[in-house]
Amino acid sequence: MTAPDRYAVIGNPIAHSKSPDIHALFAAQTGQVIEYRHLFSELDAFEKTVRHFAAEGGKGLNVTVPFKTEAWELATELTPRAKAAGAVNTLKFENSAIIGDNTDGKGLMVDIIHNAGYPITGKRVLLLGAGGAARGVIMPLLDQNPSRLVIANRTLERAQELADYFSDAGKIEVYGFAALEDEFDIVINATSAGLDDAMPPVPARVFTGKTLALDMVYGDRLTAFLDFAKEHGAEVRDGFGMLVEQAAESFYLWRGMHPDTGPVFSTLRAKP
Ligand code: ATR
Repeated sequence: MTAPDRYAVIGNPIAHSKSPDIHALFAAQTGQVIEYRHLFSELDAFEKTVRHFAAEGGKGLNVTVPFKTEAWELATELTPRAKAAGAVNTLKFENSAIIGDNTDGKGLMVDIIHNAGYPITGKRVLLLGAGGAARGVIMPLLDQNPSRLVIANRTLERAQELADYFSDAGKIEVYGFAALEDEFDIVINATSAGLDDAMPPVPARVFTGKTLALDMVYGDRLTAFLDFAKEHGAEVRDGFGMLVEQAAESFYLWRGMHPDTGPVFSTLRAKP
């Protein structure tokens, strides 16, 4: 019997990641024989850890906080969407090549449009945050042709830099939080505030009873941002659906098969 192809998710911290559970269910469902683990890396040893994993025969890695930019730099080939995102969440080792892809944006689009049932085309979209997580979803959002794409950030200059960077791809409006006066159909929290139990200071008037509020972060309970959005009438959704969808897209890159994400989402969501 040949040994299973080896994959892992690399990050720091990493023990909490549900990616191994997700990929185990994808593999069982599609009949693929793979092994998928957590891979911890010291903050200053990302490249060494990746090269060691590949040298030992590893076939691919998912990359999470805080290494997505380093993975982008390490890749010898980038897919167009990874190039635009400036970050890599999926590596594939093929002969001597290190292929870098970014499946986060596609994962978020599939989760909003298909799983939550909110079309983006023609809708007013507000993106909170201007760091790596926000940057990774701008191209896929613009591809959907929203009627408005507004970025709000604490540090206005960072939001303006993103708008300038993507100016050829579409119109992006930039606001400070306090200056947000309008209502939005979809509000996406791409700030890292939730990790500290904080929330971006978004005014309640951006939400209506029909707004979808989505936080890219997931956990056992709602983030402060989602609590606030719910209190003001929005439908809320955390980042777990996006996580499952980006994983499915990585699985496809590695194995050439699309797993059925619905049952995997339900099984793992139900787990304590
Ligand atoms: P990531 O890769 O997760 O996006 P990052 O590049 O450090 O991480 O960016 C973090 C984002 O969260 C930024 O938009 C940051 O705002 P600033 O650019 O003004 O720093 C935002 N952020 C973090 N904590 C926040 C808080 N408590 N309130 C509002 N925004 C916050």
